[in-house]
Amino acid sequence: METPSPREMNRITLLFFFLSLVITLFSAAADHDGPTTSTTSIIFTTLGRSDYAFDVFSLPTLGPSTIADELRITDGQSVNFNGHFPSSPIISLLANQTLVESSSVKRPDESLQTIYVTERNGSSNIYLDIIYYDTPTNSRRRSALETAVRVEVPLLGTNTEQSDGRISMKDRPSLVGEDLVYVSTHEDSGVPRKSWAAVYSTHLPTGSTRRLTPYGVADYSPAVSPSGVWTAVASYGERGWGGEVEELSTDIYVFRTRDGSERTKVVEHGGWPCWVDDSTLFFHRRGSDGWWSIYRAILTESVVIERVTPPGLHAFTPATSPGNKNFIAVATRRLNSDYRHIELFDLLSNEFRELTRRISPQTHHFNPFISPDSTRIGYHRCRGDSNGGKSPHLLLENLKSPLPEISLFRFDGSFPSFSPGGDRIAYVEFPGVYVVNRDGSGRREVFSGIAFSTAWDHKRKGVVYTSAGPTFATESTKVDIVSINVDDVDQPSYKKLTTGGENNAFPSPSPDGKWIAFRSGRSGYKNLYIMDAVDGERGGIHRLTEGPWTDTMCNWSPDGDWIVFASDRENPGGGGFELYVIHPNGTGLRKVVHSGSAGRTNHPWFSPDGKSIVFTSDYAAVSAEPISNAHHYQPYGDIFVVNLDGSGLHRLTHNSYEDGTPAWAPKVIRPVDVKLQVDGPHCSFEDCHWLSNTPNHGVEAAPWVLAKPQCGLRA
Ligand SMILES: *[C@@H]1O[C@H](CO)[C@@H](O)[C@H](O)[C@H]1NC(C)=O
Ligand SMILES: *[C@@H]1O[C@H](CO)[C@@H](O)[C@H](O)[C@H]1NC(C)=O
Ligand SMILES: *[C@@H]1O[C@H](CO)[C@@H](O)[C@H](O)[C@H]1NC(C)=O
Repeated sequence: METPSPREMNRITLLFFFLSLVITLFSAAADHDGPTTSTTSIIFTTLGRSDYAFDVFSLPTLGPSTIADELRITDGQSVNFNGHFPSSPIISLLANQTLVESSSVKRPDESLQTIYVTERNGSSNIYLDIIYYDTPTNSRRRSALETAVRVEVPLLGTNTEQSDGRISMKDRPSLVGEDLVYVSTHEDSGVPRKSWAAVYSTHLPTGSTRRLTPYGVADYSPAVSPSGVWTAVASYGERGWGGEVEELSTDIYVFRTRDGSERTKVVEHGGWPCWVDDSTLFFHRRGSDGWWSIYRAILTESVVIERVTPPGLHAFTPATSPGNKNFIAVATRRLNSDYRHIELFDLLSNEFRELTRRISPQTHHFNPFISPDSTRIGYHRCRGDSNGGKSPHLLLENLKSPLPEISLFRFDGSFPSFSPGGDRIAYVEFPGVYVVNRDGSGRREVFSGIAFSTAWDHKRKGVVYTSAGPTFATESTKVDIVSINVDDVDQPSYKKLTTGGENNAFPSPSPDGKWIAFRSGRSGYKNLYIMDAVDGERGGIHRLTEGPWTDTMCNWSPDGDWIVFASDRENPGGGGFELYVIHPNGTGLRKVVHSGSAGRTNHPWFSPDGKSIVFTSDYAAVSAEPISNAHHYQPYGDIFVVNLDGSGLHRLTHNSYEDGTPAWAPKVIRPVDVKLQVDGPHCSFEDCHWLSNTPNHGVEAAPWVLAKPQCGLRA
């Protein structure tokens, strides 16, 4: 056996120490990798997520920088984002003894410590990475990096039994003294369309956790003041979310970090606060002229608010460092760029200095943060193919499930559905219908047109139903139901089952293979119909529901007794959808899920035993400010299950993305990731669409100076 070098020894010591520490704090933080207790499985889609491949990176604030100055902090695994540089060395809190004993490990002040959110191992968690320098910060180059030691510490356990480790979205961590302050979604707000996002603080040495947000209220984007005394958040207060997916209509509240007391609204209309000192904070809002801009609030007796960044470009998600009144960092979208970039804004000269566009012009960079000494700026971006960051593209990503009896998978494609044997998955891209083996092999296109929704026939092997035509279209749009024989030897053949093209969609076959339930706009309204599965409507059709509203997205229960569907019948055209069930003979109509006023509950699918329904819903509202993410049409989408009688509602996914089109698998699937045989990451997701809009309003005359745009500096 080879003897480890001193450096490896240190690494081993540290890792051991950290592991034991974590176990002490959370008693059972290690993953339970034993035999699965799942008896059933669900797959669903998350828009764009398979292309994120985010890592946290850093650049020196003193420029000019080249790509060689960019330091990748996180390890190229999973998705890592929303970093924070703690102002006190967390290592002194956690690894006191070890550091004193290991003479060759550098002192904490020679390390770079970063707290961030990671989605590795199928759940959202907060990690700490420590990178030790070989040479002083300013002269560091890539070669020095490669010998750096990286230690990862999950700061919050993943044990489902523990309240603070419960499965939830965790977001925007920051460290104040011995406490980690962050957002978590583990407590049900109990009210449809009221977000579960709330701010908590966990005392790291003991693991004890306290909720700082009052019950009945959702808080986003917490920031702790330099003294640690105050925390600012974006919040609706007692008001609820109104369905916004661009700018949230939040206000800024401040409360004591210690216990959430003295909660006060300080700014009407704003989000993403950050502090320079205990009475000055910056935040973003979309100004009355339509441009996202940074504003400053001075919290004296009367709060003084002034706009900081000029119109003419979008500037948002500001970052500050304690006491630094010279500059802030922001993300921007400029008129001459399709990409989101990190820039510094000089508060004295009112000039921007571009950082990331000089280095990676065609990559989105998100959510900057600044080191306490102002020398480094952090952000996250898709790692791309550089930095040895090739990570496998996953066909099925196993997520930790809040319900142990259900194994949960994110699928890389829309409208996935399992073949009756559970060995194949049909899904759609836009355009095209595809079939892939469950192990990731044999992927092929079986229909080349635009199509949405898939469902396999239960009796006739290799028959897949879909709706061919555009999505989200009017009653008269040409959409027809087709059945595709995916096992045809030469070329998969398809057959049109409806012919009138009156927006016939969402086919779901009966378990005996004889009938298909679907929705059609043929009466002028979208209602449900049942037709012959083999010969289509020519072989017989009858209407199942009737009324001047929309019934859609139907799914036939495996025991044949029920059809579940989404309907806006209580408020036709009002934008809200709730779930109903009806017997195939038209009796027994009943509401299963109440979504709240204008709530959206869609895409229901029965469990194999017919006793539960999985669906996507905005029941838990939005979990983060949408502008802090890539584009999601419906950032509120999460996956839920409910019993057929409407009891036992459970949230399965916790994130700020758009989760949708779930399907129950016919049999249990082992909870492991399945890799696709193509290399990722592609980084081809889109930035928030509304940031491409140039506000029409005239640009306010203002004393701001724009630095010369730094085009032509492409790396
Ligand atoms: C660090 O070590 C000192 C001396 O052994 C001790 O007094 C202190 O409590 C330790 N701090 C932590 C956070 O463990
Ligand atoms: C967690 O994820 C990391 C990286 O993604 C991987 O190396 C590690 O094996 C995983 N651990 C478990 C218990 O799955
Ligand atoms: C309708 O179907 C349900 C179950 O599928 C059955 O229980 C009920 O008796 C039927 N009603 C009529 C009037 O046929």
